Order: sequence, then C-alpha cells, then structure tokens
Amino acid sequence: MEPARIHITTYGCQMNRLDSELVQEVLLAAGAEVVDDPARANVLLFITCAVRAHAEDRVFSNIGKLAARKRRQPGLVVGLLGCMAQEHGPAVRRRAPLVDLVCAPGRLADLPDLIAAARAGRPAAALDPSRDASGAAAFAASDAALDAAEIRRTLGPAVPGQAYVVAMRGCDNFCSYCVVPFVRGPERSREPAAVLEEVRRLVGQGARQITLLGQAVNQYAAAQGRDREGAASWRAGRRWDLADLIEKAADTPGLSRLYFITNHPKAFQERLARVFRDVPHVCPYLHMPAQSGADAVLERMNRGYTAAEYLDRVAMVRSARPDVAVASDFIVGFPGETEADFAATCDLVRRVRFSGAFVFKYSPRPATPAARRWADDVPDAEKRRRHGALLALVESIAAEENQAFVGRTVRVFVEELSPRGGQARRLNGRGTSSANPQSATGNPQLRGRTPCRRIVVFDGPPTLVGGETGVQIHRATALTLFGTMQKT
Ligand code: 5AD
Ligand code: SF4
Repeated sequence: MEPARIHITTYGCQMNRLDSELVQEVLLAAGAEVVDDPARANVLLFITCAVRAHAEDRVFSNIGKLAARKRRQPGLVVGLLGCMAQEHGPAVRRRAPLVDLVCAPGRLADLPDLIAAARAGRPAAALDPSRDASGAAAFAASDAALDAAEIRRTLGPAVPGQAYVVAMRGCDNFCSYCVVPFVRGPERSREPAAVLEEVRRLVGQGARQITLLGQAVNQYAAAQGRDREGAASWRAGRRWDLADLIEKAADTPGLSRLYFITNHPKAFQERLARVFRDVPHVCPYLHMPAQSGADAVLERMNRGYTAAEYLDRVAMVRSARPDVAVASDFIVGFPGETEADFAATCDLVRRVRFSGAFVFKYSPRPATPAARRWADDVPDAEKRRRHGALLALVESIAAEENQAFVGRTVRVFVEELSPRGGQARRLNGRGTSSANPQSATGNPQLRGRTPCRRIVVFDGPPTLVGGETGVQIHRATALTLFGTMQKT
C-alpha cells in the first residue's frame, strides 16, 4: 500500500485550530506525511464544529462533493474529527456515507491507528465516553495522551510567533443552547506544570504571543499545583486558579503578549480582573460573551448572571485597567426573545461599547435543553433583521472607539501579509486571499494587531511577520486601523 499522505481541513473555533496542530503532531510523530494540497492526499481529515447547524451543513456539503473523487480514487479515506464526530458517532454515515473514519475531540491521539484501520477497510471509530458515564475520570487516559502530544508539539506555522495552549478541556456550564458540554465532555483543568512547560517550550521556539484556551477558561481550577521541579504548589493548601496560572506563565522569559479566552461572566472574579493591572505581558483584551442583554433570556439560556451583573464585571475590569477592550458573542432570536429583549441587548452594547462582537442567529441543536424545551419561534426573517441591526450597532460603536487611535502610535504584533489590499475581514467572517499589493514604499502591506487585538494594516518588510513594531495610526474604520511604521 502506498504511504499515507494526509490533508487536514479545519472548521470552527480556536480550540479546533489547536486540535489541528495537535493532529499534525500526532501524525508526524507516527511517521505520516501531511500535505498542503488536498489533491495529493489519500487521507482527507475534517476537524469539525457542531455549535450551529450552519457549520455542520457546510461540512456535510463539502464531504458530499467528494463522491466523484472517491469513485476515481478507491483507497481514499475520509475522516470526520472533532465535535461533529462525537455528536453523530458512526451514525454519521447515514448523512455522509463517504465517511470512513470517526474520531472524537478527546481521542485525537488514536488517529494513526484509526487511519491504518480505515485504510485496511476495517471499522475506524473512536468516541469519548458519554458524559454521564463516570465524569472526568473516564477521560483521564485520553487526556494524558493528548497532554503528551501537546507538550511534544512544535510551534505551528499558522501565524508565526503565536501559539494557543490548552488550559482547560470540556465544559460543565450547560448553557441551554449549547452542544459543547455534550461533545467536549466534562470540565477538566490541565495540570499547571503541563501548561507551563508547554508555554516555556513554545516561547523557547520563538512564540512571542501565547493564548491560554478553555471554553470558560476563567473557571480553571487545578487540584494539584506543582511547578516544573515537582515542588508542591507555591500557594499551598488551595487550588490553582487562572490568575495563578497567568502569573506563572507571564514569567516566561521572551514572552511578550499573554491572552486568555473565553471568559464566562458568571465566574469572573476580582482576582482575575487585577491581572490586567498587575501582571506584565497580560494584554488589555477580554473576550467575555454576554449572549444577551435581557434578563429573561439570560435566565432561559442558563447563563447564571443578569445584564446588571455583566455590567458590574466589565466595570470591575475597567477599574483595574481602563483601556481593556471587551469583546463579546451574542445570540439573536433565542426562543421567546421579544422585541423588548432585543432592545435590552442593544442597550447593553451601547453601555459596554464593545471593541467587537460575533453575532449569531439562534440555531437549535438536537440534545440541548433549549431545543428540547422550546420551539424555535423567532422567524428566520426576524432573526436576520436582528442580526443585521445588532452587527451594525456593534460596528458603529467600534468605529467611534477606533477613531480615538488616530494620531497615536501603537505596538503591533505582525501576523501576516495583508490578505486583501487593506480591507480587513469582517468581524464574523473570513477574508479571501488575493495578491498582496506592493505600495509606493516598495514594501507589501502587513496585517497585525494592537495589544487590545484591534487589526492594524500598514506597509512594512515581510521579515516583520511574527514580531512587533510601532505603527502610527492615521485612519480608522470599524474593523481596521491604518498607519505608518515607525522608524526604529
Ligand atoms: N445557536 C447560535 N449560536 C450559538 N452559539 C453557541 N451555541 C449556539 C446555538 N445553538 C454561539 C455562542 C457562543 C459561540 C461560540 O457560538 O454565542 O459563544
Ligand atoms: Fe457552551 Fe456555555 Fe460552555 Fe460556553 S460556557 S461552551 S456557551 S455551555
């Protein structure tokens, strides 16, 4: 049999992008070849998202398009990985008969064996235990395998100089609309020593920007705080929380920017707000999804806070550090959301003045409490109207906030050559690539971010990608700051 040549397509959140790096690490360690061009591959892996029906439909449609190729290339293996794999299990073949391999998010370390089985025509499915089985303990073995792969992994090529590190897996919050607790399992905080070792390794390999990840990362609570040398927790007698982890991670020599996403408002503590003021390298950016500004909706969403409490948390953070940019996610058209509820959400947006927000139309997910309990009763046309109106409001406020940057010089972490001559991506979408124009300076256009994660576009040498520079801002839109590189 010819050797496996594997191509990976990734959909969804940052956690999935990290899973994609992990899959590469696992496959490369097993001696497989990972290729950039899907046409050259004999194994096509899809890392998938189950959060909204739309995300799933896209994956099913893209897999469906492979039918002709599969007839031409009989040995071709198609693998469904991640959240959709756990959600549907082997039954996915009813909707996607071309799928040969199914692998849950917690079982990615098993992929080499699964691929070998699928290529030999044997059944290939690895699922996580159901979350009612025996809780976090049931995940211990697969988590240990993931930890080992994560610690071995080298700095991913996606954005030079930046890396994601898992602090926490799974979620126990059970927001009523959300499938994540069912597909990513119970909440498990990683050992601090493992997280810190990974941070040190990645920074040692050249990462300047680290983002600690968790579905509700501020609920991080690790039982046994031990440092790398194996000494007992330096705060003996209590669990490590995220503030502890951030303090230690920020000590890593060579690290320049530290982020932590996503934060749940319910659990956001004063101790964590203070890291924005007290811990060097922690950047002034807080992604803390509000989801709605109406208390009745928040209650049905099982979010565990009111709009007033959300505003209190934001005030707490801004009193520690006034320039923190707050970003959010919102769901419009949740069951029973009235016009007055929607107006309350708009009101929250006006009060907080978010630097940006993702806005989603409610999508009922099978197995979630909301889908079982309530009809999806806001008509799609109305969802679309609220979606457009809220996005327009968010963007108009972001545009006003961005004006304050004109004339200022900001530090920019350079992520890439600008994908489109100066036009940044929309807040809730992806840009498409086209040729990068050369400017009068002879330099291409670069795209990077301020510490508060605002997008900055300027002309500069490509060697800056993965590093930082000062940029003087002379123009601003809702989504982008435009400027000129400072001479050093
Ligand atoms: N419908 C619409 N949006 C959803 N999200 C999660 N579940 C759903 C759903 N069923 C959104 C939330 C979350 C983001 C990742 O996706 O806003 O913060
Ligand atoms: Fe889903 Fe809520 Fe957990 Fe976020 S906190 S992953 S929205 S259940």
